[in-house]
Amino acid sequence: MHFQLLLPIMTLRSSFDSINVMLCNMGTIVNSVWFLSNFTIFLIHYFFVLLILFFVISKFIKLKSPPIPKIFTNNSYCIAFHGGIFDVPENTKASIEYSISKKCHRVLLSLSMTQCGKLVVLDKETLEKVNIHKDVNKVTYNEIKDINVSSTHPLGNQFGDQKILTLDCLIKIVEPLNDDFYVILHASGSNAIFIEKLKQAIATHEPLFTKKFILCSNSPIIIYKLRKLFPNLMCAIWMDNISSWRSYKRLFRLFNIIRSIYDVILRNLITPLIGVNLVFIHKDEFNTHISELWQNYGVVPIVYYVNSPSEKRYYQNIIKTRYLTASLRSEPQIIFNSQKS
Ligand SMILES: *[C@@H]1O[C@H](CO)[C@@H](O)[C@H](O)[C@H]1NC(C)=O
Ligand SMILES: *[C@@H]1O[C@H](CO)[C@@H](O)[C@H](O)[C@H]1NC(C)=O
Ligand SMILES: *[C@@H]1O[C@H](CO)[C@@H](O)[C@H](O)[C@H]1NC(C)=O
Repeated sequence: MHFQLLLPIMTLRSSFDSINVMLCNMGTIVNSVWFLSNFTIFLIHYFFVLLILFFVISKFIKLKSPPIPKIFTNNSYCIAFHGGIFDVPENTKASIEYSISKKCHRVLLSLSMTQCGKLVVLDKETLEKVNIHKDVNKVTYNEIKDINVSSTHPLGNQFGDQKILTLDCLIKIVEPLNDDFYVILHASGSNAIFIEKLKQAIATHEPLFTKKFILCSNSPIIIYKLRKLFPNLMCAIWMDNISSWRSYKRLFRLFNIIRSIYDVILRNLITPLIGVNLVFIHKDEFNTHISELWQNYGVVPIVYYVNSPSEKRYYQNIIKTRYLTASLRSEPQIIFNSQKS
């Protein structure tokens, strides 16, 4: 085909000797443009074939999400971040009791694994407060089991001794609670041992775990692996904020584009495939349009972190979206008991 295109050029060359060289150059340019456009068309075809293949395959491997509990769709809005970290020592038994006393029946707690392979309700920030500047997976359970979480919390003396919970302890605490109490476990690990331990924990506590716990992860792959084994497991996906990148102006713009593409793929292709119930979105990246897009896929969007009373009122009355909050002291009471949302 290169030849076909060159042919008219070659005839021209014989008749117009003087513009010989110029045309020759043009020939190369035309050829390379021709090659590039063909290559692009090839890429586009390739992309569409991949897309169709993806849809066909996804029909077979798609995991249907379990129904979302009513408490995530009716008129209650708050979800207590670490059990209300501003008001109570985070990730502890006290924080669960505190949330219940404030009529907030949904808490988000951290889940990590220690070096010795124990699943604990803990994150790095709590360790930093007691001057252990390591990741949770670099300490053993023995090193941390005596930590009094209250001792570093400003209001800690109201709550007495609060130990770091293991996942087994947490399950024992949650078991006798009412049916409408839910714990969202934000899993920070992603390695194979962590997933294996998590699988074991879910399997041993099976009907209870899928009834009261919702697993939250940044990684769609972890969610897929676990939901394949436990189809009734409710899952949430956590989308990190990129606001902290805003100081790098150029990079931020590039990052924003990549992020937008990732968001579209995540929302339209991955989420329906792995079956997600909730999505956590940073408030800087949230708006009603994004909220509607997620709701179209049957996913409940949750905004983080909404702490001031005026912000809460805004999300309750105007945006009508549930939010993650670090403080339950300033929950505005909903006066209008509307059936709208
Ligand atoms: C939301 O639903 C849950 C469970 O059905 C119920 O316990 C709770 O009272 C409801 N909250 C509101 C504000 O309607
Ligand atoms: C744990 O810390 C709290 C708050 O400082 C304190 O009231 C409590 O006595 C401590 N418990 C123990 C066993 O040290
Ligand atoms: C965004 O998240 C990072 C950690 O994930 C945090 O350090 C940073 O403060 C957050 N930025 C905002 C604006 O919340």
